[in-house]
Amino acid sequence: MADRIRLVGPEAQPAEAAFEASLRPQSLREYVGQREVVEKLSIALEAARRRGEALDHVLLYGPPGLGKTTLAHIIAREMGAGIVATSGPAIERTGDLMGILTNLNDGDVLFIDEIHRLGKVVEEFLYPAMEDFEVDFVVDKGAFAKTIKVTLRRFTLVGATTRAGSLSSPLRERFGLFFHLDFYETGELVRIIQRSAAILKVAIDDDAALEVARRSRGTPRIANRLLKRVRDYAQVRGDGRVTLPITREALAMEGVDEDGLDKLDRRFLETIAVVYRGGPVGLEAVAATLNEEPSTLAEMVEPYLLKSGYVVRTPAGRKLTPRALERLGMFRQTALFEDAGGGTQ
Ligand SMILES: Nc1ncnc2c1ncn2[C@@H]1O[C@H](COP(=O)(O)OP(=O)(O)OP(=O)(O)O)[C@@H](O)[C@H]1O
Ligand SMILES: [Mg+2]
Repeated sequence: MADRIRLVGPEAQPAEAAFEASLRPQSLREYVGQREVVEKLSIALEAARRRGEALDHVLLYGPPGLGKTTLAHIIAREMGAGIVATSGPAIERTGDLMGILTNLNDGDVLFIDEIHRLGKVVEEFLYPAMEDFEVDFVVDKGAFAKTIKVTLRRFTLVGATTRAGSLSSPLRERFGLFFHLDFYETGELVRIIQRSAAILKVAIDDDAALEVARRSRGTPRIANRLLKRVRDYAQVRGDGRVTLPITREALAMEGVDEDGLDKLDRRFLETIAVVYRGGPVGLEAVAATLNEEPSTLAEMVEPYLLKSGYVVRTPAGRKLTPRALERLGMFRQTALFEDAGGGTQ
């Protein structure tokens, strides 16, 4: 899936890990947006602190790049506790998990990213750890095998996933707090961009910050990445200050349009419009025409186009909306799309 690096792709890119970490808010107060999540979480944190107890286990779910890892670190910090970060695929054997669990102190956060990718055996090993803070560990093999019960300290498991639906229900039921992160509004992205610019010591005009925000697909990770590109461009082609014209030039050069669509998004829309007369058409057919894998389109292209109302899913396949036709400049040109919303306007 990550065989293609897109400037507007929401997935983490290994090369930008340090950059991202430097921009991570350290406290709930600095965390922009997600108001409902922040409010509920701060009440849960305050209550746990007053009781002197560990926070309930927390499940964070939502699309990539919206701040799940950031929140996990903030939770630990707000509890004044340590954090151990790992991920579902990284824990291969129960022995690995055992080592991690027995090293946790009271109140510590165990952060498991991509928790939906835990192996079955490891997942089942986790149940009693989450529920009763103890695990059954098998020592030795064959005839000498025996199970010993190991008591753990009261830790908080913070799990993150982009697909809450693929979590098994026994695992889901062992979480006490569930927080769904949603795409950010433009105004919130503006604040994130201004905050990041201050940390990076970049001067940015308000209208330029707004322009970057509009092209960030509701995603802080993309906002920060675009800011970085625009900053570089301003340094080389301007005097270092990020202005609106500089922003427009820089992002046009990168092929990111006013709504944050890139070339692949536009090819996807154009294919449905031109080759399939606006749809409905199956994803496989579009993929074949574009010479792309259907899974690439399903995971990397469609979600944002669906979310922002360029494409709809119908039982017969994908269909363009009037918004998409307008975007492509095709709204008036053709009578093919009468049923897509009429040509009057
Ligand atoms: N609410 C926020 N306020 C300010 N910056 C944020 C916020 N949420 C995320 N960011 C920034 O966006 C970047 C990506 O966030 P993060 O790594 O937490 O996303 P994620 O949800 O864990 O993504 P993934 O699903 O890929 O693991 C970070 O650099 C972080 O600083
Ligand atoms: Mg993450």
